[in-house]
Amino acid sequence: MPPLRVLLFLLVLLAAFAGLLYLLLPFGPYAPNPLDLVFWAALIVIARRAHVALPFSASMSHAFVVALAAVTLFPPWLAAGLVFVFSFNRDFGRPGYTWYKDLFNRTQSGLATSLAGLAWGWAQAHLGAHPYLQEAAGILVASLVYFFVNVGSVTYVIHLASGASLRKVWFENYSWLWVSYLLQAPIGLLLAKAYQTPLIWGWGGFTVLFMMLLLYFSRFYWDEKVKIEAAFDDTIEVLVAALDAKDPFTRLHSERVAAIAGSIAKRMGFDEQDVKRITYAARIHDIGKVAIPDSILLKPGKLTPEEFELIRSHPKKGLEVLHPMRSRLPQEVQNVIVHHHERWDGSGYPSRLREEQIPLWARIVALADAYEAMTAGRAYSPAKTPQEALNEIIMQAGRQFDPQLVRHFEALWLESPIWKDRGEFLRRYTLPAHLSAWPSPSHSGPASATSPTSSSDRPGPS
Ligand SMILES: [Fe+2]
Repeated sequence: MPPLRVLLFLLVLLAAFAGLLYLLLPFGPYAPNPLDLVFWAALIVIARRAHVALPFSASMSHAFVVALAAVTLFPPWLAAGLVFVFSFNRDFGRPGYTWYKDLFNRTQSGLATSLAGLAWGWAQAHLGAHPYLQEAAGILVASLVYFFVNVGSVTYVIHLASGASLRKVWFENYSWLWVSYLLQAPIGLLLAKAYQTPLIWGWGGFTVLFMMLLLYFSRFYWDEKVKIEAAFDDTIEVLVAALDAKDPFTRLHSERVAAIAGSIAKRMGFDEQDVKRITYAARIHDIGKVAIPDSILLKPGKLTPEEFELIRSHPKKGLEVLHPMRSRLPQEVQNVIVHHHERWDGSGYPSRLREEQIPLWARIVALADAYEAMTAGRAYSPAKTPQEALNEIIMQAGRQFDPQLVRHFEALWLESPIWKDRGEFLRRYTLPAHLSAWPSPSHSGPASATSPTSSSDRPGPS
């Protein structure tokens, strides 16, 4: 079951949709052509199944275009009713199916369609310029209304379910999507016009099917693009795992740093999305080390000043390694990679930032990194016990670490989390188990770190 507030919102939405349908019903004779109804109902079913993956983990089906076409062909109540009834969920009957997500998606799509229908009707009655201009303006207004109702309700339900602020969900996931809706709007009108103008064998449906086929195949471009991005995320994960596996002292280092940083973030009240992101940032924070030769990275003896300098370049090299995906990496994640070796007193590197000049996420990962390294030990320094490491961290509050973070860390440590004892952590997170215990890269990576839900039936703009 969803949280109560999500359920209440669903009920409100359902009541609004039912009320609107009731108001819009003609209460008089109305006899649509049964062939039209069957054809457009089938199109809605097909369009819902063909999801197009969009950047930033969003997805969009062609249902919007079909709904828009229906709005121009049928009265609003009928278009909305068709969308509500025939928007079958792709997971229907499968184990991942959740009835309330399905009902939410149907209701918000139905509500968006009925209001878009009203907007279309209003534009036809009041924008009395040239008929072509009237239709063009009408379809744009209808698509904007659909966009705001559809994406607005999805944004709100994600806010309710994840605790992330409305502003954040909106700007990070959907604020840019209105352009896509506006660009697709003419296709909706074109579908409707094609249906009304029989070009092939006396029936407009053939042209519509041909256009839908073109739309359907256009999705492969996006699918491939998203697959390439996911493959890059996988590569980064593999690089991090390989880096950790090189040295017995660093086995599962990034996993444990991520677990500690995630715990601190959770305790500090970060929302679910940010906890996921900071965990991801902690996992890849040392990615720049792939650019440092093993002979230096694994050297058991003392490093020369030049070698030391090279090691100290790994935060900056991290951004170079991640360059191809940099535009998709949130700034906070980039900050972690570059600034996780800064120290509270300003004696760290690479920028010698001090106190709150150091980005908060980087301060958290720095602390987690230090605790993990102390309890793991290195070839040149024996491992500390958890208690010794905690004492050291407390001693370094205000010097190496943010004192407030140290207080959070100490309180967490006293609760004996799984990461407190390294041996215990490694036993629990042997490689196969850890791979299944963490979300897969395509879910935790930046492409979907923005997405609080990961199943294919997540609420999404249609
Ligand atoms: Fe590092």
